Formats: sequence, structure tokens, C-alpha cells
Amino acid sequence: MPRVLFVCLGNICRSPTAEAVMAQLVADAELEHAIELDSAGTGAWHVGSRPDERATAAAAARGIAMSGAARQIVPEDFEQFDLLLAMDADNHRNLREIAPHADAAAKVRMLREFDPAAAAAASLDVPDPYYGGEDGFDHVLDLVEAACTGLLAELSPRPV
Ligand code: 4NP
Repeated sequence: MPRVLFVCLGNICRSPTAEAVMAQLVADAELEHAIELDSAGTGAWHVGSRPDERATAAAAARGIAMSGAARQIVPEDFEQFDLLLAMDADNHRNLREIAPHADAAAKVRMLREFDPAAAAAASLDVPDPYYGGEDGFDHVLDLVEAACTGLLAELSPRPV
């Protein structure tokens, strides 16, 4: 059973959005029991907080429910999960730095590597929407939905 951890900086905007989008896709494919999902932040500022209200509203407008409380990544996550999916290059670098060994570091990938349409993109970042306007959260959803669709196709035990 693949276990996937989505990782951003604060764990209140991008990674809980990715977790919620993926959970919806997994539920639609009736694979809830076949794929395990969670999210975490590299930073600790928002530990215990609910997802950002702007992210929650943007997701709700697409019929996606966000829940949970922010937590910071811990070394055990590199054992508990098969894939640690970074939202941007900073997250990716930070995760590689704290990975306890080479096998753990090899589990760290960029989420958008799984979006086939992003292969030609100059950057694979899901841009941080925290200090921007409302449209940043819709952009996050667009990028995350495309990447999670590709991720599900890759992880699914049968074609979806
Ligand atoms: P996230 O967004 O990494 O997508 O959860 C952020 C949330 C909070 C902060 C930065 C990014 N912050 O600086 O507090």
C-alpha cells in the first residue's frame, strides 16, 4: 500500500490542499483502503492550526473538503512514508537535508513531477500563496489537481 506525505512550508495551505485533492480522487476511485495520505510542513510556526481559511474556501468551491491540523515533519516520516512530495524547490531541498540516510532522501520528489503536462515547465514549484491574493489559492488547486491526477494513475493498482 503506497503511503504518501505531501510537504510544504507551513502545512496550512499547499500540502493540506494536495492531501484533500488526492483524498477526493482516491475516494472517487474507491481506493481509500489502498493508498495512505498525510501532510506536514518543514516549518513549525503553524503547528496545531487548521488549514488556512482562504485555502479551505477555494477548495470548498470545487467540492473538496479540507480538514486536519498542521504538524511539522519528523524523522520518522521518512520511515512511515514511501513518497515525500515537496510543493516547491525549497521544501525539496529542506527535506533532502533532513533525510536521515540516502534511501530516505530518495523518497523525496516534487509533486509536480507527476503532472505529465509539467514536464516542459521551467519550474515544478507550486507557488506559495500565503502572502498573495485569493487567485493564488485557485492556482494552487489547478496545479495540485493536475499533479494528483498523474500521481493516482501512477500509484493505482489498476488503471483509473
Ligand atoms: P504553505 O503556506 O507552506 O503552503 O502552508 C505558508 C503558510 C505560512 C507561511 C508561509 C507559507 N508563513 O510564513 O507563515
